[in-house]
Amino acid sequence: MRSALMNIMVQAATKAGRSLAKDFGEVENLQVSIKGPADFVSNADRRAEEIVREELKKSRPTYGFLGEEGGEVIGTDGQHRWICDPLDGTTNFLHGIPMFAVAIALERAGEIVASLVYNPVMDELFTAEKGGGAWLNDRKRLRVAARRHLSEAVCCLGIKVTGTSNDALTLRQLGHIAPAVAGIRRTGSASTDLAWVAAGRFDGFWEARLSPWDVAPGYLMVKEAGGTISDYAGTPGAIWNGQVVAGNEHIHTQLLKAIKAVN
Ligand code: IPD
Ligand code: CA
Ligand code: CA
Repeated sequence: MRSALMNIMVQAATKAGRSLAKDFGEVENLQVSIKGPADFVSNADRRAEEIVREELKKSRPTYGFLGEEGGEVIGTDGQHRWICDPLDGTTNFLHGIPMFAVAIALERAGEIVASLVYNPVMDELFTAEKGGGAWLNDRKRLRVAARRHLSEAVCCLGIKVTGTSNDALTLRQLGHIAPAVAGIRRTGSASTDLAWVAAGRFDGFWEARLSPWDVAPGYLMVKEAGGTISDYAGTPGAIWNGQVVAGNEHIHTQLLKAIKAVN
């Protein structure tokens, strides 16, 4: 049984998801046009955020809202704030790759208490509430994978491709970690990466320079699925400084050590 709060969030995400899925169909057609679908995609993105904002506002008019596209609206409530990435995985969306999500988290007095990550093409809805566990499509309780050694772990990373010095660091980390693990993956949607760590699909995940809307939804999911999540210094609560390392406690410790060994 979903809570009333989760119902509101799911309603907003599925409505935005329907809009994205429709636009995604169009993007697949636009791949062959010379101009390409870039403008179309930013409109799809903005439209999805508008839907989430409006839907959530209808039920919780006093809550604040922080969204990637429209920025922050301070709520009169002072305690609650939605954090939303309406389209996480824009590059995938733009290229017709069906790996993207609507991601929403609710912050209460500075703490993430509810979240979801919804992929409308795969129709996978990951949800979490503080103390209530993490779930896939309301039916399957999520647990992080049980593997204890990096050598048997499939780890996912996020990497920036803009050629900055931080990317060089991530590449060095990759060079150090890849030979030590069973597999490396890159999905292009950080909220999905964290949801998949919670679901035990990925044993570990690391990325730097993320935004709060990329991290907040999956952060609660990993914790509710029994996982560990921190920044690169090992400090928990890593939503605001952009660095994330996640996994079960064993993989988290080993991944963190490997990351720290590289500079
Ligand atoms: C991006 C994705 C990607 C991550 C980037 C994010 P966007 O979000 O989550 O996986 O590597 O850091 O910015 O731009 O698709 O919303
Ligand atoms: Ca994002
Ligand atoms: Ca986005």
